[in-house]
Amino acid sequence: MALTEDVTTVLNEQINKELYSSYLYLTFADYYEDRGLKGFANWYEVQAKEEMDHALAIRRYLLDNDFKPTMEAIAKPDMTFESDLEPLEAGLEHEEYVTGLIHHCYEVAHSVHDVRTMKFLDWFVSEQGEEETNARDMITNMKLFGCDPKGLYDLDREYQARVYVQSTALTL
Ligand code: FEO
Repeated sequence: MALTEDVTTVLNEQINKELYSSYLYLTFADYYEDRGLKGFANWYEVQAKEEMDHALAIRRYLLDNDFKPTMEAIAKPDMTFESDLEPLEAGLEHEEYVTGLIHHCYEVAHSVHDVRTMKFLDWFVSEQGEEETNARDMITNMKLFGCDPKGLYDLDREYQARVYVQSTALTL
């Protein structure tokens, strides 16, 4: 059964949003790198790779369903930060926005009884829940421990340990 135009349109748009997310997190990584916080920078570099994986997974889903996606222009993340907390807060706000987009994709699929796409999107719905939790935890940690140099150093060490693992979205 072919995907409907409404479904391919929102999924094609979502590829672009995921690529923007990757760009956005690279700018966060650049900010922290410049601050000398290489662990935070590492965390967001890994996150940027995960977002690229999300884009690739949706692209693959469209191709496997006989639809050729279109790569649109990616917006420039135009953000400047005044404190180490600000990227973390912007990250949570962004993930909540992306959750809304994923839910919208799901609703469009649901409205045309596209069970296959709904099943595909289930993974993304769960992932968004995890990403919002991670973003909230990072804000909490920064507020609790980031205000003194030793606490910030320990947090940075913790985030340095994050290792990129190819997203399971690519094997859906
Ligand atoms: Fe792929 Fe965090 O959205």
